[in-house]
Amino acid sequence: MSISRIAETIHASPTLALNEKAAMLRENGDPVIHLGGGEPKSKSPVDAILATTALLNSGEVRYTPADGVPALKKAVIRYTEEFYHRLVAPENVMASGGAKQAIMVALQTVLNPQEEVIYPAPYWVSYPDMTRLCGAVGVAVLPKDETFQPRLKDIESRVGSRTKAVIINSPNNPSGAMYSEEFIGDIVRFCEKRDLYLIMDDIYHRLVFDGKKWPNPFEYTTKPIDESKLIVVNGVSKQYAMTGFRIGWAVGARKLIDVMTNIQGHQTSGPSVVLQMAAVGAINGVQSCVESLRVTLENNRNVMLALLNTFEGVKVAKPDGTFYCFANFERYEKSSQKLAQFLIDKVQVLTVPGAEFGADGYLRLSFCGTIKEIQEGIQRIKWALDPNSPNELYIGNRKLVRDWT
Ligand SMILES: Cc1ncc(COP(=O)(O)O)c(C=O)c1O
Repeated sequence: MSISRIAETIHASPTLALNEKAAMLRENGDPVIHLGGGEPKSKSPVDAILATTALLNSGEVRYTPADGVPALKKAVIRYTEEFYHRLVAPENVMASGGAKQAIMVALQTVLNPQEEVIYPAPYWVSYPDMTRLCGAVGVAVLPKDETFQPRLKDIESRVGSRTKAVIINSPNNPSGAMYSEEFIGDIVRFCEKRDLYLIMDDIYHRLVFDGKKWPNPFEYTTKPIDESKLIVVNGVSKQYAMTGFRIGWAVGARKLIDVMTNIQGHQTSGPSVVLQMAAVGAINGVQSCVESLRVTLENNRNVMLALLNTFEGVKVAKPDGTFYCFANFERYEKSSQKLAQFLIDKVQVLTVPGAEFGADGYLRLSFCGTIKEIQEGIQRIKWALDPNSPNELYIGNRKLVRDWT
């Protein structure tokens, strides 16, 4: 079968594939523990549900403008004012089918084939494939050390005549690192000076721990929004635990948002009105659910970190936010793919290999599940890897016997 050269380079999303694998194993009755997930387990906010059901009850479920319904734009404008201290106009906002679509459409809007996009590693799994979908080239910049803080000079050294954009995701998936105020200021100023687009993927910006302050990129722009190449992306998936609603948005210069809207209009039209209204409900509703999720995640992080620190030779930086620990398991196995497969096969714990994020030797371990899942998952990993483990492990009434060294 002949498919396009671009399509040939695109891989399946490894994290979505893992979700399917977990569901399949569970269906078979296997006692799987999914530490590979990327979604909080709390319930959708009641205000989101009420807004959704109100619309459904009206029976008037229609197309929306390609850039979103006015009520959602208004909610995003208020959100931008509250969290970014920047007043934007409806023409600066486009609602999308998740932050994922907002980023994809932004890349399609700014990239020509062969142009380059720079992003720090470890990076979110979708950036390389999204870039390839545009016929463009992704350039991953490795961090200097395991704090995973990128350095401006490393990014600067990779900027060439083909560089068009930089993507920054902080707090970062998979490392959990929140980039320093200094770095965010520097990268905003640098991109302005070099006339580069800067896509800020802020999807985890309210899930930050230890009382730390998340750096706001708008504080460092010198240009009015309509002359700026800063594009801020956000969404309801993580902060409101609304991954299945698929609503995200982009905020940027109106000329850019105009073109993004044209592209999205041909791709999917506006996102489902039902889901847009749910997002309006969440953004305008009672916000205690976000804080309660944040506190739960901070506690889960502490539990996972304490357990990981009992492993001999596993190195893990304390995540500042998100719901991931990115742990270096090289002492046990250099290939993260092999290690992740071993853990599924032997103890049925799902993890994401670091290689998917541009950092082999690591595993991404999610702490968005329950404390029980975290404890049992890490305990099983330890049993599988530690040669001094007892010979047997019981999972429920299943007995596992170590037949490896
Ligand atoms: C860094 C990052 N950006 C964007 C997304 C996509 O979010 P959404 O569900 O809004 O498409 C994710 C989801 O895993 C993510 O981790």
